[in-house]
Amino acid sequence: MEIKKIYNEDCLITMGNMPDNFVDFVITSPPYDDIRNYNGYNFEFEKIAHELYRILKQGGIIVWVVADATIDGSETGTSFKQALYFKEVVGFRLHDTMIYYKNNPMPQTGNRYHQHFEYMFAFSKGNPKTFNPITEPTKYHGLANMKNRGKNGSLDYEKVERTKEKKVGNVFFYSVGGGISTKDKTAYKHPAIFPEQLVIDQIFTWTNENDLVYDPFMGSGTTAKVAHLMNRRWIGSEISKEYVDIANERLKEYTVNNLFSS
Ligand SMILES: C[S@@+](CC[C@H](N)C(=O)[O-])C[C@H]1O[C@@H](n2cnc3c(N)ncnc32)[C@H](O)[C@@H]1O
Repeated sequence: MEIKKIYNEDCLITMGNMPDNFVDFVITSPPYDDIRNYNGYNFEFEKIAHELYRILKQGGIIVWVVADATIDGSETGTSFKQALYFKEVVGFRLHDTMIYYKNNPMPQTGNRYHQHFEYMFAFSKGNPKTFNPITEPTKYHGLANMKNRGKNGSLDYEKVERTKEKKVGNVFFYSVGGGISTKDKTAYKHPAIFPEQLVIDQIFTWTNENDLVYDPFMGSGTTAKVAHLMNRRWIGSEISKEYVDIANERLKEYTVNNLFSS
């Protein structure tokens, strides 16, 4: 397989050409619930889920970013159904149900709260082989007052060194929209792009340099761009020629020595 390439075809065809246990990591956002009509293409979820398991290396992770549409007055529950299919039928572990929290979502009218989040299901094939946690400073930046009861019963206070950093929680916060999700103007010709920082955070967490990253629904090429800039190898599939052209146009700017083939 050629790497650093977006295959302009159904992802089932691309995966069909991959050997077993081939990619280290998958991050993607599927075209769920016909929420948008991405040029009218089909999406065979069950087949894709099984193929993803086959091509992923042992210990690899898939980050599946989804939410539900509201149809006939009810949320569809597609995200839950897909998560359970991956776990109960395909054989993935549901390693972590993470949340992609949008700081500035589209306002909702009617009798529902604003839709602030999507799921980022992290499915693993066995025990994850890589975990580089994102950390934040602890409240007291490593210094804590410890109470020691002295021999005469008095309380002594002393400063002790504590861990300076701790893992962040599994709700990740992002601002989204024009000029924020990415600075690449071309990307906005696609209707549903990832915020780049989301992909940076997930690739950082679950991969190491030179690992192979795959996005079966590449859209505007966010995963390709981020993987490239983080020194990961990558492959993508995108069924729409129009979007492949947008992605390749976007990636051109980051091309060094013709690293991207079209
Ligand atoms: C939610 S968008 C992905 C956007 C992407 N994460 C980005 O940052 O630009 C889903 C994409 O999947 C593509 N798609 C739909 N069915 C597909 C299939 N069977 N194989 C490959 N791509 C498909 C659509 O054309 C659409 O661009």
